[in-house]
Amino acid sequence: MLEIKGLHAEAGGREILKGVDLKVKKGETAVLFGPNGSGKSTLLAAIMGYSHCKVTAGSILFDGTDITHLPVDERARMGIGMMMQRPPNVMGVKLGDLVRAAAGGDDVGIKAAADFRLERMLDRDVNVGFSGGEIKRSEILQLTAQSPRFVLLDEPESGVDLESIDLIGTKVKDLLYRRTNCGRRTDGCQAVSALVITHTGQILDYIGADVGYIMQEGAIRCSGRPTDLLNDIREKGYRDCISCRMVVPS
Ligand SMILES: Nc1ncnc2c1ncn2[C@@H]1O[C@H](COP(=O)(O)OP(=O)(O)OP(=O)(O)O)[C@@H](O)[C@H]1O
Ligand SMILES: [Mg+2]
Repeated sequence: MLEIKGLHAEAGGREILKGVDLKVKKGETAVLFGPNGSGKSTLLAAIMGYSHCKVTAGSILFDGTDITHLPVDERARMGIGMMMQRPPNVMGVKLGDLVRAAAGGDDVGIKAAADFRLERMLDRDVNVGFSGGEIKRSEILQLTAQSPRFVLLDEPESGVDLESIDLIGTKVKDLLYRRTNCGRRTDGCQAVSALVITHTGQILDYIGADVGYIMQEGAIRCSGRPTDLLNDIREKGYRDCISCRMVVPS
């Protein structure tokens, strides 16, 4: 569904992505690990088409269509949605209006706001004065209203208190599986596809992940079973990835 080939991209006048190759199949959830500053969020920005990230080489295919240079709104209309790590404050735009717009004018997201404990936030400017946890819940509510076919999640559980992680995890799970009404993945059950960044792996307690990737210094260094990669990172750090049978050179 998503195929990234030899992607190079710059941000702030510096090359951040240095030849990324990555595939996410239809109905698959891929997890992206990597140390701080390795380029994970920049990769998601390149896939979504944010203007601060300039693709200089390589390609991004979505459902077989080359989207490398499409504007962000066209990518959203094609069914790609993103939960940002640090979304900007949007002065003058009420959360309720954004959620309604994300749903194409429908009130489905507004009605869901109470489930996200956001019913009292709908008339506030987006992200202005929101707590870290409120921002995460607001991002997932917007995605739920948008109902994308492919979701990019940038550290959905980071900064969320232990009780609220359950809410976030459940809502992310609903987001990935609701199109088919299947509570868990089974053969022939087609879920929404996803690329999820996580440091702790806590979100993996809620969603089934099919494949994991480790990014280092702007490129994918290895892939493997998400749980194996996570265990390797916990035990050995990023430098020695046993699952991938490789050692990242210093
Ligand atoms: N707009 C920008 N201007 C300048 N530098 C940028 C910009 N965006 C990203 N970078 C730099 O690119 C590098 C990769 O950043 P990125 O946010 O992609 O890392 P990350 O892997 O998501 O890290 P983290 O795990 O801390 O979120 C960092 O050194 C960052 O400072
Ligand atoms: Mg990041």
